[in-house]
Amino acid sequence: MTKANLNWVILGPGAIGGLIGGALLEHGQIVSVLPRKSGPREINWQVTHKQFKADCSAPVITQPLPENTVFVVAVKAFDVVQALQRITTLHGFNKTMPIIISHNGMVELPEPVKELNLHPLVTTHGAVISRNENGKLCIEHRGAGRSWLEVGPAVRNQPTDFDPGLVLQQAFPPLTLEQDLSQRRWLKFIINCVINPLTAVHQCANGELLKENWQTQVYSLVAEAVAVAKSQNVSLTTEECYKEVLFVAKETALNHSSMLQDIQQQRRTEIQQLTGYLINAGKTAGVATPTHQQLLDEFQRSYGG
Ligand SMILES: NC(=O)c1ccc[n+]([C@@H]2O[C@H](COP(=O)([O-])OP(=O)(O)OC[C@H]3O[C@@H](n4cnc5c(N)ncnc54)[C@H](OP(=O)(O)O)[C@@H]3O)[C@@H](O)[C@H]2O)c1
Repeated sequence: MTKANLNWVILGPGAIGGLIGGALLEHGQIVSVLPRKSGPREINWQVTHKQFKADCSAPVITQPLPENTVFVVAVKAFDVVQALQRITTLHGFNKTMPIIISHNGMVELPEPVKELNLHPLVTTHGAVISRNENGKLCIEHRGAGRSWLEVGPAVRNQPTDFDPGLVLQQAFPPLTLEQDLSQRRWLKFIINCVINPLTAVHQCANGELLKENWQTQVYSLVAEAVAVAKSQNVSLTTEECYKEVLFVAKETALNHSSMLQDIQQQRRTEIQQLTGYLINAGKTAGVATPTHQQLLDEFQRSYGG
């Protein structure tokens, strides 16, 4: 597979998928879309990226898939398994096709999809999707961030010998290619397990969590999550994670977290793939997570789910 002839398939496109798809198109790549519902032969969306504004257009995938297909799956965590299973049913799909997968939360993958050629992507970019008055999909890049892509074990001692990663690095910078993202994924997961449910339950902006009266709870949430991470052989310290939580709360002080936005717009939240996953992983490993349980109880009293 060479850089020149990759055939990118974007699921959705949603906020992050559409942002990446737009960046790939701007970079001259061949992009097609796998929408949730069949119907149109072409998908159009507008991207207002911090670096460019573009009217994007890409055909819906045709089957059989070409050999050089690379998927970008940026879906809500509760849709991950179904999205991956759907990909495996496409005519021409084979298990060696790279699947770049980006979502918040953690998901237990069933055996057949676990074995796919998955490359987790962690991103701190912020984007929102909406439809304009003409019904056109509009993706607005609200927060410039950075990304990390897991490229897997070094091949011939070349940790970056992964063409889709090299292309994405140019099209969607800044992007760092790493062999193993477990630690980075857990750090982001812990940050999300603190900021998202707390701001959703208390209906506040992220910066509110910097106040002194929150610190005992925030610190306990971090310490419990770090203990669960340790049980999964991920070595992070409570101090570094606590510092990162405060850093993110400060950097995004005026923002409403994605979970609070989901609540405000009456959309399904990722609470079960965040707090729910953490509590279950703790139970399996014999690690107590009472502060997360209390937060989940409060969340469910307010919103169900
Ligand atoms: N947006 C951000 O700023 C941001 C930043 C960092 C991380 N994240 C995380 O990244 C993930 C994606 O977030 P997002 O905001 O991009 O979500 P989103 O806007 O809801 O996009 C997800 C897209 O995937 C589509 N989809 C889901 N299942 C599908 C399937 N089986 N086949 C085809 N399309 C399918 C959805 O279609 P429908 O519209 O029909 O559901 C939607 O278009 C989430 O875990 C989120 O927490 C988001």
